[in-house]
Amino acid sequence: MSEQFFDYINEHSEGEPLYLQRIARRAHVRLLNGRMVSGALQGRLLKMLAELLQPKNVLEIGTFVGYSALCIAEGAPQNAVIDTIEIDDELEDIILENFSTVDFGKKIVLHIGDALQIIETLDNKQFDLIFIDADKRDYLKYYQTVLPAVRSGGVILVDNTLWNGKVFEPPQSADSQTKAIIEFNDFLAADTRVEKIILPVRDGLTIIRKK
Ligand SMILES: C[S@@+](CC[C@H](N)C(=O)[O-])C[C@H]1O[C@@H](n2cnc3c(N)ncnc32)[C@H](O)[C@@H]1O
Repeated sequence: MSEQFFDYINEHSEGEPLYLQRIARRAHVRLLNGRMVSGALQGRLLKMLAELLQPKNVLEIGTFVGYSALCIAEGAPQNAVIDTIEIDDELEDIILENFSTVDFGKKIVLHIGDALQIIETLDNKQFDLIFIDADKRDYLKYYQTVLPAVRSGGVILVDNTLWNGKVFEPPQSADSQTKAIIEFNDFLAADTRVEKIILPVRDGLTIIRKK
């Protein structure tokens, strides 16, 4: 979609709060992959969904600098607990610093390690909302691992499911990320345990509701 299309949407949607502008700017300055933060539009959508769904227990797979976790925490109720998992231990200090900039950062519990291993340690917790945004090659594994841990009526959000339009074309043989996202999208489309809709927000955001 054209830049004009996104500019128009951004100009007529909720603006990015100052604390998130600072976090995004610092990520761009300090880190190579600063563009991995959710950004204003998706961030405001995450906050609004958390306000609408009022989830008590939230799981995020893929923290990066904590931008999306903070958006969810901003909209979630006072007693919500957001477990977020990040594999890169070099990000730990930046993440904790970012969480400490706002009072609702206290709702977030950071776990450093591989999501597939950390999830096993979460004591069969049932989640109201899950946000999947880590290694694209493991999307199907994350989904299959977390689905039993979502309560009936609970929601899973999955980022990057349109992968810059690459999912429409036959993938290059070496492009394991595109192949994995296509495999995930195809699996999900046929999964009758859930309702699903791909929103063309940013890089594609799939909303899944467990029946
Ligand atoms: C796209 S970024 C997350 C962005 C963040 N959710 C946001 O919107 O601001 C993906 C993150 O997932 C992390 N990651 C990759 N594989 C992981 C794994 N197996 N377990 C936990 N985190 C992982 C990466 O290190 C990276 O920081």
